[in-house]
Amino acid sequence: SAAEKGGYQHFMAKEIMEQPKAVRDTISPRIQDGKIVLDKITLTAEQIKRFKKIYIVACGSAYHVGMIAKYVFEKFARIPVEVDVASEFRYRQPIMDDKVLVLVISQSGETADTLAALREAKNLGVRTLSIVNVVGSSIANDSDDVIYTWAGPEIAVATTKAYSTQLAVVYLLAIYFADKLGTITAEEYSSYISQLQSLPDKISEILANKEQIQYLASQFFNAKDVFFIGRNLDYAMSLEGSLKLKEISYIHSEAYAAGELKHGTISLVEDGTLVIALATQDALFDKMISNMKEVKARGAVVLGLTTKQNKKIEQVADYALYVPELCEMMLPSLAVVPLQLFAYYVASMKGCDIDKPRNLAKSVTVE
Ligand code: G6P
Repeated sequence: SAAEKGGYQHFMAKEIMEQPKAVRDTISPRIQDGKIVLDKITLTAEQIKRFKKIYIVACGSAYHVGMIAKYVFEKFARIPVEVDVASEFRYRQPIMDDKVLVLVISQSGETADTLAALREAKNLGVRTLSIVNVVGSSIANDSDDVIYTWAGPEIAVATTKAYSTQLAVVYLLAIYFADKLGTITAEEYSSYISQLQSLPDKISEILANKEQIQYLASQFFNAKDVFFIGRNLDYAMSLEGSLKLKEISYIHSEAYAAGELKHGTISLVEDGTLVIALATQDALFDKMISNMKEVKARGAVVLGLTTKQNKKIEQVADYALYVPELCEMMLPSLAVVPLQLFAYYVASMKGCDIDKPRNLAKSVTVE
């Protein structure tokens, strides 16, 4: 009913708008006196020090969170990370021993493939930790430790606030590990914590500008194909941006590592093809500018997304979207919001059944 949707037309819109609160509810109970406190988990500093590898296992958008988490854990905690979709992981006999941690990410806590992968790890006596939204779900119950996302119930099939809170837990956990491992300085530790605490306000700032994204959606809702490109964290972001768009608007979209375009996918770019170029990482900004020029030379219309200081993106991009400044590792938490809104408005302009897209389920409990 309209009341359940809090005055919004769709649950997805309501859930997008709830993100500042969901992220705050997830972060704030875990930060006390400037320190990350994860007192519900049994994992000790000694155990964390023994991990030589982390396997992150999930499906769908939760897998995309895992793709970001790889960069974050490797950068902050210096532990090698492998990310896999659960339906692949469970059948590939991954090398697992007491030096690995299996980190499982799931909104529902009931996804069949993810649950099976978790059980497989447990059978081998491997340490497991899960990031779950639904309290008391199977994955939460079966993991050695669980850290809950406090997103509240998510109704729309396309995940938004669960994704954002999963990402927030990834940051909490990676900074927590880094502190125990001594891979970041005390100054970095406090700086990361305060930047994490600034997330809800910065997300609100982006949401306050949603009309701009609505306008962009009005320019592109008839698109046949959309390509999302980025490098490193922005590539991981591209995967989620592309999935959001295709799942609710039925527009064909692909995410590509920007440097890989030239090995095939650029052949699909023609006059007027929309390319959404994510360029939030400073060290890769110039590389992204080159990729934008490459696709423009083939007729693409480029929508560039970067941080506020990088106004020079407008020299190449036809349209530009900006997110507030923040430490680079955490920028996905901001950059995902315009991508969610873009998908939402495009689907809405096409008259799609946004909360219940065809052929999709909120939770996939069969293989
Ligand atoms: C389904 C949903 C996705 C979700 C995926 C994994 O495909 O439509 O939004 O990302 O399952 O679900 P989970 O509950 O494990 O996060």
